[in-house]
Amino acid sequence: MDKYVIEGGRKLYGSVALQAAKNSVLPLLAASILTEKRVVIRDTPAISDVSCMAQILRELGAEVRFSGGDVIIDSAAASNHAISSRLTGELRSSVFMIGSLLTRFRRALIAYPGGCDIGLRPIDLHLNALKQLGVSISERDGCIFCECDRLKGAELQLDFPSVGATENIMLAAVMAEGRTVLAGAAKEPEIVDLQNFLNCMGARVAGAGTDVIEIDGVHALGGATYRPMKDRIEAGTFLIACAVCGGEVETRGLAPENLRLLLHKLRENGCKIHTKNDKIRIESKGRLKCNRRIETMPFPGFPTDLQAQATALNAAADGGALIVENLFETRFKYVPELIKMGADIEVTGRTAFVRGQKRLHGASVVAGDLRGGAALVVAALGAEGGSEVLDLSHIDRGYADFRGKLKALGAEIRRVRV
Ligand code: UD1
Repeated sequence: MDKYVIEGGRKLYGSVALQAAKNSVLPLLAASILTEKRVVIRDTPAISDVSCMAQILRELGAEVRFSGGDVIIDSAAASNHAISSRLTGELRSSVFMIGSLLTRFRRALIAYPGGCDIGLRPIDLHLNALKQLGVSISERDGCIFCECDRLKGAELQLDFPSVGATENIMLAAVMAEGRTVLAGAAKEPEIVDLQNFLNCMGARVAGAGTDVIEIDGVHALGGATYRPMKDRIEAGTFLIACAVCGGEVETRGLAPENLRLLLHKLRENGCKIHTKNDKIRIESKGRLKCNRRIETMPFPGFPTDLQAQATALNAAADGGALIVENLFETRFKYVPELIKMGADIEVTGRTAFVRGQKRLHGASVVAGDLRGGAALVVAALGAEGGSEVLDLSHIDRGYADFRGKLKALGAEIRRVRV
């Protein structure tokens, strides 16, 4: 297991070419088995969640090759509808495979999904919607078995705009008979990306990005070559790191409207933000002010995937901040690690109250989940003295060459095999 060794206090300067969005690439990979034709996904990030999804596709019988950053999927020979617990345990996104498998094989057997330990993460919304499309579902021994004679379009309403449920329904409805209207859909930019990709394959999906998505089932889907959108969470992490360390950093490849609320919060902190086309530039000089309140919400609200990094920022700023986590119950698990670095944070249920400190100090901390781990790296970069961030397996799930990109901006960070 590797660790980062970080010497805090270096300012960050430079430009970051963003990776393709993890949360876009994973559903696109799930969608790739909807066709027997070849699918090419360009510039995919070298992160372990992508390797894991590739393994899942191989287990189904697809051929998956990585070539110069592209993933090439040929699933003509795929015949297996079951995904083992070894793989679903590692990757919760494997749940999207239910929709794709049902479309392709009319059946799906998957072990109960895993992923980050950040809350209960039930999948009732996925399963209820699938039932309405004509799927019968049984659960036994930690596995979910879904089957149908045919998928039939329906009018669906989600009680909560779940990203995964919205994507799963799109994947189950693309070739269903007739029209599916999904109301209460999630509006995340990655859902628009999935719509664009499916339409490239010949699907008829409209409305993604609004809360009503309409899908007219088609008889067959063809191959596609597609370049996914860039990663707004990676962009946000680098912008917050620059805010914390001071300096001037630009991200390239992502339109600023994907991060509107974060940019507003960074301005509240006292940073200057400049945007032009797909570039976002942050300038951070002098002391930061705490945000009075940050509340995570479905898009376009403040992303839960940037909550931990924003808390790390507030921990070493002037004033106090109330951070409210509305999406996942236990997404403050990184807080005791930040406290080891001198942060003063009190967590009560879904709320963390942060009393900003003059500065955090280096410590030895453990990255227990993906975004919490990124927050610890951000905190260590801004802290006084040396830190080590142990167990990089979670960070590796979502950030390609995190160390290399930070080092190029001037951070003092090494990756060491333990
Ligand atoms: C996706 C993202 C994840 C992000 C999250 C919220 C991917 C691969 N992951 O996760 O990075 O943090 O969106 O933006 O895209 N819920 C239910 N029942 C369900 C489904 C969800 O109660 O059937 C609840 C969850 O417990 C959670 C909330 O809805 O409280 C949000 O979950 P959801 O939007 O589904 O997140 P994911 O798709 O798992």
